[in-house]
Amino acid sequence: MANVVVVGAQWGDEGKGKIVDWLSERADVIARFQGGHNAGHTLVIDGKVYKLHALPSGVVRGGKLSVIGNGVVLDPWHLIKEIETIRAQGVEITPENLMIAENTPLILPLHGELDRAREEAASAGTKIGTTGRGIGPCYEDKVGRRAIRVADLADKATLEARVDRALQHHNPLRKGLGIEEVDRAGLIELLAEIAKEILPYAAPVWKVLNEKRKAGKRILFEGAQGSLLDIDFGTYPYVTSSNVIAGQAATGVGIGPGSIDYVLGIVKAYTTRVGEGPFPTELLDDDGERLGTRGHEFGTTTGRKRRCGWFDAALVRQTCAISGINGISLTKLDVLDGFETLKICVAYDLDGQRLDYLPTAADEQARCTPIYEEMPGWQESTEGARSWADLPANAIKYVKRVEELIECPVALLSTSPERDDTILVTDPFAD
Ligand code: GDP
Ligand code: IMO
Ligand code: MG
Repeated sequence: MANVVVVGAQWGDEGKGKIVDWLSERADVIARFQGGHNAGHTLVIDGKVYKLHALPSGVVRGGKLSVIGNGVVLDPWHLIKEIETIRAQGVEITPENLMIAENTPLILPLHGELDRAREEAASAGTKIGTTGRGIGPCYEDKVGRRAIRVADLADKATLEARVDRALQHHNPLRKGLGIEEVDRAGLIELLAEIAKEILPYAAPVWKVLNEKRKAGKRILFEGAQGSLLDIDFGTYPYVTSSNVIAGQAATGVGIGPGSIDYVLGIVKAYTTRVGEGPFPTELLDDDGERLGTRGHEFGTTTGRKRRCGWFDAALVRQTCAISGINGISLTKLDVLDGFETLKICVAYDLDGQRLDYLPTAADEQARCTPIYEEMPGWQESTEGARSWADLPANAIKYVKRVEELIECPVALLSTSPERDDTILVTDPFAD
C-alpha cells in the first residue's frame, strides 16, 4: 500500500489543507509531522468553512485516525480551544481518532512572549514577520534539551524538574528583554490543569504508525508551511524554525524513510508570501493587487495581507528536487482567469549571468532579477472545473508549461476552495 507525503513547495498557503482533506478519503491515517499553530489550513466542504491550525486536515472526515507527530510543536491550550471550535462545527474528535506523540514538545506562554518581544525589539529590516505564536522559541528549547514534552505532564516531579530547567534559561533571557520573570508555581499549575485534557490523547505514535504500516494501512503525512520556509533550504533567516521538506516526514513521526512511496508537492499557480524576506517575482503593481483580491490572499492565522507575484518556476524546480517531489497539485488556477498575459519566471539574472536556481547568499539573492517568459492568458472561467475538458486551451498550455519548467508532472489540479472542485490526473496512492 502506498504512503504519501504532502508538502508545500513555495512559501506556504499553497492549498495544502484542501488537498490533504481531499486525499484523506483514500487514507487510513493522517499525520502532521512538523510546524505548529503557525499553520492555517482552510477547508471548504459543501460551503461550510473549517479553519485548522494544529489539527491534521484529515480530522474533518469521519473514520480516520489523525496524528500529531513529535516533529510538531504543540500549544496545548490552543489545541483544546481548536478541538472545541471544530467540535462545535459537528466534527467528532476523541482519543479514538486523534493521537498526540508523547515526545512532542509543548509551546508554553513564555515562548509566545519571547517570540513577540524579539519581533518588537527588532529594527526594520531585521524582523522576520513571524506569526508570534512561539514556534521558534519552542524549537530552540527542543534542540537546547530544555523543552517540556507531552509525556512530562504525567508525572509531577518530572514536570517540576523540567520547568526548572526551562526557567534557568528563560528567566535571564527575559530579564535582558525587560520581561518579568516567569511565575514558577503558576506555570506548574497551568500545566497540571491542561495535562488532564491533553494526556488522554497521548500515545507512542511511532509504534502505532509502524503497526498500521505493517497492517497495510495507508498513511498520509501532512506537512505545514512550504519548502522556501524550511530552516535549512528556505530563504534564511526569513524562515520558520523547522524542516518542512519531505525528508522530515519520517523523523517527525518515527517511521522509516522507506515507508514513503510518493511525495506530492502543493504548488499555487502563482506565488505568495506572508512575512518578511526575499521574493524575486513579487508584484507591487495592479497585477499583484488583482492576484491578492481574486485569490483572497489574507493569512488564515494572522489575517495579514499576503504578498503576491508571478509563478516562479525556477524556485519550484528547486523545491521539487529538495523534497523529491513525484508529482504536484497545482492549485488556484482559477485565480489566473481573465489576465491578458501571464508571466512565468524561468531563471534569474545575477550580474549579467543566467542562473537556473536561487543562490544561497543573501546579497546574491537580492541582486537576482527574474527572467520571464510570457504566455497568453484566458478569458473563460476555470472556477469549479472538474475535468480537463472543462479547461480552456490556454489554461492547459499554462499547466503543461509549468510541468516542463519544473520538471515534474501535475497529479492534481484545484479550481476552487471547494473539496470536490479538484481534477485527478494521477492518484498518488495508486500502488
Ligand atoms: P494551506 O496553508 O496550504 O493549507 O493554504 P491556506 O488554506 O492557508 O490558503 C489557501 C486558500 O486558498 C484557502 O483559503 C483555500 O480555501 C483556498 N483555495 C485552495 N484551493 C483553491 C483553488 O483551487 N482555488 C481558489 N480560488 N482557492 C483555493
Ligand atoms: P501554512 O501551513 C505561510 C511564515 C511567517 C514568517 C515565517 C516565520 O498555513 O502554509 P513562524 O511563526 O513560523 O516563526 O514565522 O514563516 N509562516 C507561514 N507562512 N504559511 C504558513 O503555514 C506559515 N507558517 C509560518 O509568516 O514569515
Ligand atoms: Mg495557510
